[in-house]
Amino acid sequence: MDKKTITIAGGSGFLGQVLKSYFHKKGYNIYILTRTPKQVNDFSWNAKDLGEWTHILEETNVLINLTGKSVDCRYTEANKKLIYDSRIDSTSILGLAIQNCKNPPEAWLNMSTSTIYEDSYYKEMTETSGDIGDDFSMNIAKSWEAIFNNLITPKPKKITLRTSIVLGKNGGALLPLKRLTQFGLGGKQWHGKQKVSWIHETDFARSIEFLIEQNLEGVFNIVAPKPTTNKYLMEVIRTALRMPFGISHPKWLLQLGAKMIGTEPELVLKSRNVIPQNLVANGFKFNYLEIESAIENLVKT
Ligand SMILES: NC(=O)c1ccc[n+]([C@@H]2O[C@H](COP(=O)([O-])OP(=O)(O)OC[C@H]3O[C@@H](n4cnc5c(N)ncnc54)[C@H](OP(=O)(O)O)[C@@H]3O)[C@@H](O)[C@H]2O)c1
Repeated sequence: MDKKTITIAGGSGFLGQVLKSYFHKKGYNIYILTRTPKQVNDFSWNAKDLGEWTHILEETNVLINLTGKSVDCRYTEANKKLIYDSRIDSTSILGLAIQNCKNPPEAWLNMSTSTIYEDSYYKEMTETSGDIGDDFSMNIAKSWEAIFNNLITPKPKKITLRTSIVLGKNGGALLPLKRLTQFGLGGKQWHGKQKVSWIHETDFARSIEFLIEQNLEGVFNIVAPKPTTNKYLMEVIRTALRMPFGISHPKWLLQLGAKMIGTEPELVLKSRNVIPQNLVANGFKFNYLEIESAIENLVKT
């Protein structure tokens, strides 16, 4: 059987490279849409206009759109606009390009975020019963999903990826937490009771493969089934790094520190309690169910 071609828009970043490497090993053909092509099979686009790049969609079986300015920045008006525009414009133009295709992709997976759900300590947020929130990040996620859902495209099955923090070796949230821990600063952040929904990078890629191979469609929470807490996560990272102590961070320090390093404290203060109801109901099996084994695996190699 011929292997599928997957095009990853915004695939030059952390998650795109995780997917590229995973699917490449499985023999898939991978194209990346990027504003700055660097490698073979990178194609140039500006993430908002039609162009030469659209021809690759004719030979694409699966389109995955990850495009978006990182939310790891201060929410200035200029940054907020970039965060919004990069997600909405890229999704819209991909929709238009698909509408123009003679041979459209069979599936289109568009990134979203599990941050779309309200802050929650006790209630577990599933795709069906989760409470959708109403702050800046949640409203971005709602607009992102709305534009994706409202685009009428002739063929592809559409999948919305409400993804939690992805724990990886070479990028994402684990790297700064490891660094803090190595400097003796890996204690709990604020009271540490905030829930942390997470997924190991391998399970992130495996879940995408599962959605494609099973011909599924709809909204999926891409998270491991057992959220941890901030306090326990930091404890597990300290243990994996053999660090006997870790200074904790009160809320005022997190707010000040975030300002100094140009990010937002929301990223660690929010309680994310999200459950992968639809993945589990469809029979997906996680390799990393426990935070201990996920961190041990990512830290040791
Ligand atoms: N990492 C996580 O744990 C996580 C969790 C949930 C959701 N997400 C979402 O998943 C997506 C990918 O995450 P990631 O960690 O791989 O992010 P990343 O490393 O920052 O990569 C994002 C990609 O988007 C493109 N991009 C950035 N700013 C852009 C702009 N202003 N206009 C057009 N394109 C722009 C970049 O491609 P070029 O510069 O090559 O054009 C970049 O490769 C993001 O939308 C993110 O919000 C990530």
